[in-house]
Amino acid sequence: MVPALLSPILSRLGLWASGLILVLGFLKLSCLLLRRQKLARAMDSFPGPPTHWLFGHALEMQQTGSLDKVVSWAHQFPYAHPLWFGQLLGFLNIYEPDYAKAVYSRGDPKAPDVYNFFLQWIGKGLLVLEGSKWFQHRKLLTPGFHYDVLKPYVAVFADSTRVMLDKWEEKAREGKSFDIFCDVGRMALDSLMKCTFGRGESGLDDSRDSSYYLAVRDLTLLMQQRLESFQYHNDFIYWLTPHGRRFLQACQVAHNHTDQVIRERKAALQDEKEQKKIQNRRHLDFLDILLCAQDENGVKLSDADLRAEVDTFMFEGHDTTTSGISWFLYCMALYPEHQRRCREEACEILGDRDSFQWDDLGKMTYLTMCIKESFRLYPPVPQVYRQLSKPVSFVDGRCLPAGSLISLHIYALHRNSTVWPDPEVFDPLRFSPENVAGRHPFAFMPFSAGPRNCIGQQFALNEMKVVTALCLLRFEFSLDPTRPPIKTTQLVLRSKNGIHLHLKPLGPGSGK
Ligand code: HEM
Repeated sequence: MVPALLSPILSRLGLWASGLILVLGFLKLSCLLLRRQKLARAMDSFPGPPTHWLFGHALEMQQTGSLDKVVSWAHQFPYAHPLWFGQLLGFLNIYEPDYAKAVYSRGDPKAPDVYNFFLQWIGKGLLVLEGSKWFQHRKLLTPGFHYDVLKPYVAVFADSTRVMLDKWEEKAREGKSFDIFCDVGRMALDSLMKCTFGRGESGLDDSRDSSYYLAVRDLTLLMQQRLESFQYHNDFIYWLTPHGRRFLQACQVAHNHTDQVIRERKAALQDEKEQKKIQNRRHLDFLDILLCAQDENGVKLSDADLRAEVDTFMFEGHDTTTSGISWFLYCMALYPEHQRRCREEACEILGDRDSFQWDDLGKMTYLTMCIKESFRLYPPVPQVYRQLSKPVSFVDGRCLPAGSLISLHIYALHRNSTVWPDPEVFDPLRFSPENVAGRHPFAFMPFSAGPRNCIGQQFALNEMKVVTALCLLRFEFSLDPTRPPIKTTQLVLRSKNGIHLHLKPLGPGSGK
């Protein structure tokens, strides 16, 4: 009786609900199409490569390798060209120093269409935050990279590197080439955990770090694929797909790792002795800063803010340096003459000592030039995105209105032949003081530039110098011609098939 009465009401409700969904869907689609039209019209004066009616440029980039494809487009379209991921998400892709300066010197916000994909994973940490909250967090965290804080890290970098090099000694004995990328990644994560998150020797937890490391590898791949696949752009649809569910699972693994790190440090802070130790330290480490931070009213960072910053630094602090170190070693294998000169310099600096000290870092001039040249050809972060908060006029008179999306293609900027003659040639002398002095300040941007540049760049450079010098003192690196790396962007620059190198131990007396 009751069901018979209810059924017409239910079917009417169902009808209303379907109607509402249709109307909302239609409104959303209209908004998206209007926005597309606005973005496309804004880029009218910028010719570019033909677009696929559904995929934009995404398909072509996936098929032919996005990095070199963009470099070839950059030859065809000087300064900039439109770049579409699907039909609804379009950027002006720029790769010219004056264009980069026009946008990146101003501190426009990050493009939410890209950076919102990070939210589920790293939350609103420094990388994604905007406005006064970003400013407040940046000011809070900058002392964590003070040079007095960075000084003792030199020894930590060296210790973590030695563990990796001992492992490599065994692998090298087999006489075959092997992929160095993974080992470098675990070493970089170990260093970061010890430096930034204060993990002591006894706290080393290989299996937990290992799951985190693998989760990050998944997350960066999935995020890049999401960005380039229009069907995954909408959150609601994405979380229903197997791809989205894989992303959520990997996030869970990453969050378990960060939660554990925070829990352990909070527990240590309960201990009075530990608290005294921290108070007596002249400079706090990154995690101390976050846990002790209070605003003028004594309010501490919320748990969500704390977790977001830990997640952000945990990812940014190891994946980027892993890429930097691995591609640097690849360059050394590719150019034995430069490898030899870096090794000689390191030997000379070290003399009879068995490890580097802080003052040594400034003396590594040739190695530093080689690191910068490898950053130029293999920038660990190949692309960054902004949304204009106000109109911009470029040097050639073309303009873009507020709301337009910008992609700075660092990889193509670093291969722009108007600034870098013979861009494919590895020439460290491009970074000699005389050559740097005459160059456009926005021609070389591995750490981005302007107010949203990398907060960890000094940490990264120090780590790169210590790790690479120790590697070169222990081994001679050469290529495996049967397995050349295939460059790919997964937020950071990686190789699809790893970086396979032959390592020849140099034996005692080589500075080990
Ligand atoms: C070779 C190593 C590194 C490279 C090439 C690099 C590159 C970059 C780039 C290009 C950006 C700008 C990102 C954007 O605009 O979307 C950035 C931002 C950032 N980096 Fe790095 N990074 C490196 C190492 C590190 C390290 C070691 C840390 C931390 C320990 C770190 C923490 C951050 C953070 C927190 C931001 C966001 C800063 C902000 O927006 O205020 N990075 N990095």
